Amino acid sequence: MRTQVGIIGAGPAGLLLSHLLHLEGISSIIIESRSRDYCETRVRAGLLEQNSVDLLNETGLAERMNKIALPHDGVQFTFDDTYHRIDMTELIGRRVTIYAQQEIVKDIIAVRLRDGGEILFEAEARQVGGIDGDKPFIKFMHEGSEKTIECDYIAGCDGFHGIARDSMPSSVVRGYDRVYPFGWLGMLIAAKPPSHELIYSHHPEGFTLFSMRAPEITRSYLQVPPDDDIKNWSEDRMWSEMRKRLGKHEGLELHEGEIMQASITPMRSYVSEPMRYGRLFLAGDSAHIVPPTGAKGMNLAMADVCVLARALIAKYKLNRNDYMESYSETCLKRVWRAEHFSWWMTTMLHPFYEASPFDLRRQIAELHTVFGSRSGQTLVAENYAGLPIVPWRP
Ligand code: FAD
Ligand code: DHB
Repeated sequence: MRTQVGIIGAGPAGLLLSHLLHLEGISSIIIESRSRDYCETRVRAGLLEQNSVDLLNETGLAERMNKIALPHDGVQFTFDDTYHRIDMTELIGRRVTIYAQQEIVKDIIAVRLRDGGEILFEAEARQVGGIDGDKPFIKFMHEGSEKTIECDYIAGCDGFHGIARDSMPSSVVRGYDRVYPFGWLGMLIAAKPPSHELIYSHHPEGFTLFSMRAPEITRSYLQVPPDDDIKNWSEDRMWSEMRKRLGKHEGLELHEGEIMQASITPMRSYVSEPMRYGRLFLAGDSAHIVPPTGAKGMNLAMADVCVLARALIAKYKLNRNDYMESYSETCLKRVWRAEHFSWWMTTMLHPFYEASPFDLRRQIAELHTVFGSRSGQTLVAENYAGLPIVPWRP
């Protein structure tokens, strides 16, 4: 098999890249280890920055999103028995939108297949080679036999547990890692959320977040110990923790309903530098992950892909190498700012289990400093609604 760009992974990063390249007449093949059904139903992220929404609109991927997504002008916070609302539209003129990651994945898969795109599901990449020279290849297993894609460039969009990152020589790669001493228990609930906007709640006994997937579907998260087991969490315990941590605030009411899905995810920050070696480019979770508190993971993946599409289009259409040369540096500047915001939101909103009484008082003071001032709220809003992304066309 031969194509211009070989893409590993049909998550938001790989699919969007394939679509952007197609719009400029550049061919690609995506190989994805999971089934199409698995990719289209996996419950993950749900919040889109304004730039991500604009990008999906600009590139013809927004038809279903514009019908069912939920745009939010504000975001709410509770801590120390107080309630604060950040009015993003008023402060910065931008907003965020709730639209589930698996819906975006579904939308892009449909558009790629409509346009004749090649996506091989249940095809697992086993080896990436030739990235030092001009004949890179990907070896993968599909329908019981080993196959090879020969290509000009490889995009490693295969997530945190993929093989692309480890295909770079260890002498040139450096990983920056931080593991948090807690995880999130995520729940999907058949009930109206406490508010039509997201609520991030700090409580001395743990953080909780109320998000949603539809007006009658709540998506909520509870801070739990990192090695906790879902078996320790009865439904009664989940409800009593959500109720306690949300606290009592006028207009915020917890509605109970069937808990349709629940699982625990660890929290981690990780960046691998550089994001390019020879003809292999990493994008999205394969290069970096963030703790979910700032809702940045999927948005960062889409921002990387704009930088990568620009580099590849500039090479093929204009014979320009400069955007390829600067790919890693351009991505990493934005990545590190999102890493900082995610770390900041995480450390500010989660009480650390080993925190001293001083640490807890200091944390509550920080929350009042930030959310009690217009400048603090503006700083949060600017980062939450998303930093600028580069135009994907050179
Ligand atoms: P992925 O979506 O991980 O896609 C990578 C793809 O590559 C996968 O489909 C995988 O099957 C495939 N793959 C891996 N290895 C191979 C191989 N060898 N061969 C072929 N294919 C391969 N972010 C938020 O902002 N908010 C959240 O609430 C949130 N919740 C999350 C919950 C979980 C359990 C996880 C894992 C992540 C969550 N994230 C969240 C992060 C967000 O979902 C990711 O940042 C986003 O999926 C990144 O997109 P991606 O395309 O880079 O990687
Ligand atoms: C969602 C997840 C997040 O981590 C977040 O900060 C906001 C929303 C969500 O799944 O809806």
